[in-house]
Amino acid sequence: MNLRTLLAYGLATGVFTTLLLFTIHQYNSSHVARRGHERQVYQANLPSENTLRSEEQMRRTVIQVQEGVPATCVPQKKFAFIKTHKTGSTTTINIFQRYAIYNKLKVLMPVGQGPLSWPFPPKENEYVHTPDEKYDALMHHFVYNKTWLLTKFPSETKYISIIRHPFGHLKSQMNYFTLAKVLKIKGHGNAVKVFLHDPWQHRNRSETFFPHVNITWDGTRNPMTFDMGWPAERADEEEEAREYISQLDAEFTLVMILEHLDESVVLLRRLMCWGLRDILLYSKVKNSRPYPYKNYVATPEELENHRNWSAVDYMLYNTFNNSLWRKINAQGQDFYDELNYYRRMKHRVSDHCARIGRKRKGQPMVISPSKWNAQFEVDTTYCRYIKKRKPMPLDRKMRGRKYTKKEMSYAVIDQIINYRLLRKGLPTFNNRHDAFAAGITHLRSKPRVEKPPA
Ligand SMILES: *[C@@H]1O[C@H](CO)[C@@H](O)[C@H](O)[C@H]1NC(C)=O
Ligand SMILES: *[C@@H]1O[C@H](CO)[C@@H](O)[C@H](O)[C@H]1NC(C)=O
Ligand SMILES: *[C@@H]1O[C@H](CO)[C@@H](O)[C@H](O)[C@H]1NC(C)=O
Ligand SMILES: *[C@@H]1O[C@H](CO)[C@@H](O)[C@H](O)[C@H]1NC(C)=O
Ligand SMILES: *[C@@H]1O[C@H](CO)[C@@H](O)[C@H](O)[C@H]1NC(C)=O
Repeated sequence: MNLRTLLAYGLATGVFTTLLLFTIHQYNSSHVARRGHERQVYQANLPSENTLRSEEQMRRTVIQVQEGVPATCVPQKKFAFIKTHKTGSTTTINIFQRYAIYNKLKVLMPVGQGPLSWPFPPKENEYVHTPDEKYDALMHHFVYNKTWLLTKFPSETKYISIIRHPFGHLKSQMNYFTLAKVLKIKGHGNAVKVFLHDPWQHRNRSETFFPHVNITWDGTRNPMTFDMGWPAERADEEEEAREYISQLDAEFTLVMILEHLDESVVLLRRLMCWGLRDILLYSKVKNSRPYPYKNYVATPEELENHRNWSAVDYMLYNTFNNSLWRKINAQGQDFYDELNYYRRMKHRVSDHCARIGRKRKGQPMVISPSKWNAQFEVDTTYCRYIKKRKPMPLDRKMRGRKYTKKEMSYAVIDQIINYRLLRKGLPTFNNRHDAFAAGITHLRSKPRVEKPPA
């Protein structure tokens, strides 16, 4: 119903744009310049076989956008959302969960609640198999491995992720993974400040070897690029990392930027040909934790040290922030009109949903059609979905049933738990079942939230 209404509406008002895909073989700039009404969008979603593509080569595929022609874009229903750590991915996964639920997608789900796998692709018994071994979507923590993904997902699958500024990320990592303890940085003051005075001095502790997977991970050094598939040991290979990142830029349809979240989700809607109802986020509650140095602003020296230390993550961030804005600029002024509209609707829908309690069934709110959306209803179910702060309830919904205790014992455990085991001189584990089999039964699961100073 949605798409039909959308198309009909587009025809009626004549404001929809056509997306035409063509490759550079036919492309030349004078040709485009002559036709002033056309705008170009650089398309990052190239065939994955093309490896190590440079930025220049990437420009070879463009989408032409024409105004005044009804939209012929087709909603993209196959995607892999690479859920990076501490980047706002727990907030944004809501979009992908809802999309999967409303469109009845076959999601490649972990057997237990939590990450899909870390850091290697899941073993056969760690994810829920569909009868035909075909999947539409993936959205749980998974260290990006295109080779493996291509064995489960068709080539037209869109790759999406989210990252944030590396300094904000460092603060969040430090707090969540209790890295002050790992680094043995004393006191309850500002561990980030102490660390950034000389990151290299802490290297022997920040680089952590996890025996159960035979892998080194560093929570302070390039952790985002690690989630995107760049090994921690290769932190110093900057030229190779640069090539890898430009390959990612070619493989991903969109890497959202937390600092520009509204812009990112509006662009997501456009690139995926989704609806406004698909991308709205609840504006009232955020999945954020208070901690002492959360609002700390680094000195120029500290920032310089961080740039030096985590150079690959800065490269990743700059590449994808540029990529985001390049794609936004290619959309033209209409993008900003939609952005304003999105923000207004987000607050309207959030206000409405805030008033609808768990039990109280309110009248659905009707969102009228606009240039960018067909009419839709915001009902109690929709409100319940967008208000979820944690992925668990919608995971259960996608799964179609509750997780059993046994399944939960196979859930991949967080590094935070393995850090605790390491501090006690114990082995590390992939899941509770393995830990239990080795005689370790007390695994605290909840990360401790450090209280801000009084
Ligand atoms: C990525 O997946 C492929 C295919 O399953 C596998 O052979 C390879 O070892 C994986 N790489 C990493 C780093 O996990
Ligand atoms: C790590 O390095 C620091 C200073 O460079 C040193 O004091 C500490 O003993 C080292 N720790 C380990 C575990 O090697
Ligand atoms: C662990 O990884 C290293 C290199 O990363 C490799 O040389 C070694 O063989 C691996 N050990 C095991 C037990 O897989
Ligand atoms: C980091 O600093 C060291 C020495 O101060 C320098 O040799 C190195 O090139 C710097 N690296 C980056 C990425 O700035
Ligand atoms: C991202 O890039 C844009 C455009 O270059 C810039 O205006 C913006 O400040 C950058 N964002 C961050 C958070 O650095």
